[in-house]
Amino acid sequence: MSRIVEKYAELPKPFRKPLWQWWHKKMNKYDGDNIANFMNYGFSYLNGDPEIQLQNNDETDRYCIQLYDHVVNKAEIEGKDILEVGSGRGGGASYITRYYKPKSYTGMDITPSSIDFCNNHYKDVEDLSFKCGNAEKLPFDDNTFDFVVNVESARCYNNQDAFFSEVFRVLKPNGKLLLADMVYPEELEGLKNKFNKAGFIITTETDISPNVVAALEKDSARREHLIDTKTPKILRKSFKTFAGTVGTSRYNNFATGVFKYYSYILDKSQK
Ligand SMILES: C[S@@+](CC[C@H](N)C(=O)[O-])C[C@H]1O[C@@H](n2cnc3c(N)ncnc32)[C@H](O)[C@@H]1O
Repeated sequence: MSRIVEKYAELPKPFRKPLWQWWHKKMNKYDGDNIANFMNYGFSYLNGDPEIQLQNNDETDRYCIQLYDHVVNKAEIEGKDILEVGSGRGGGASYITRYYKPKSYTGMDITPSSIDFCNNHYKDVEDLSFKCGNAEKLPFDDNTFDFVVNVESARCYNNQDAFFSEVFRVLKPNGKLLLADMVYPEELEGLKNKFNKAGFIITTETDISPNVVAALEKDSARREHLIDTKTPKILRKSFKTFAGTVGTSRYNNFATGVFKYYSYILDKSQK
């Protein structure tokens, strides 16, 4: 199983959606206390830069939250309409809605069980809602959102061109796509060509690989403990690989530069 996790991007396309649905079901099953509400590798500040200020109850998710914060903090999202594609277990959607006060925040994911979980778990967060849908065919009208947020999800899609063109369609004129994802260095130019092909202008490109590696190192013990206490032994190796704990092939790939991690602000250009 851990090999399947590591080779996700090379999996035949028909297997990807069922794998996510299987994964979400397992998380729902083993995380009865609803502790694991993020599924990303996190972000840590470097060179003595201070980490962000958080309320006490968000402290355990600090590094995963900081990745979301890094993605949105240069955009002016207060009072704006926001869509997140690939919102997973909704931790980032909840953080952004509570701390940045958009007018509306819609989390969308392809996995029905994660949407059911989110609609129940975050029902008290004002202006936040969740809807099931496919990134490649967004269930929203043209020119609906000021910003689309996408964290560690685009890499999973069967047809990224369709995704970028759909985001372009649902963004209002001058809207922006705020994206962070892992990428093999040899794929980087191809990814940027896809942004351009959809009509986006790259405003900001940041290599955050060192921040992600530092976050994985600081968060590894917490991730391991969660997995060791919540999942059956037979699944622990695959969960740890997926979680990128220190010593796994996923962590090693980040630490040695086999995998890089980039964030982008992409502008809907007026063609
Ligand atoms: C690595 S998780 C990241 C989740 C969340 N962004 C976070 O940081 O916690 C990737 C998410 O993308 C979702 N996903 C995969 N393919 C998708 C698709 N075609 N459309 C929408 N969501 C998809 C998965 O179900 C999963 O929740």
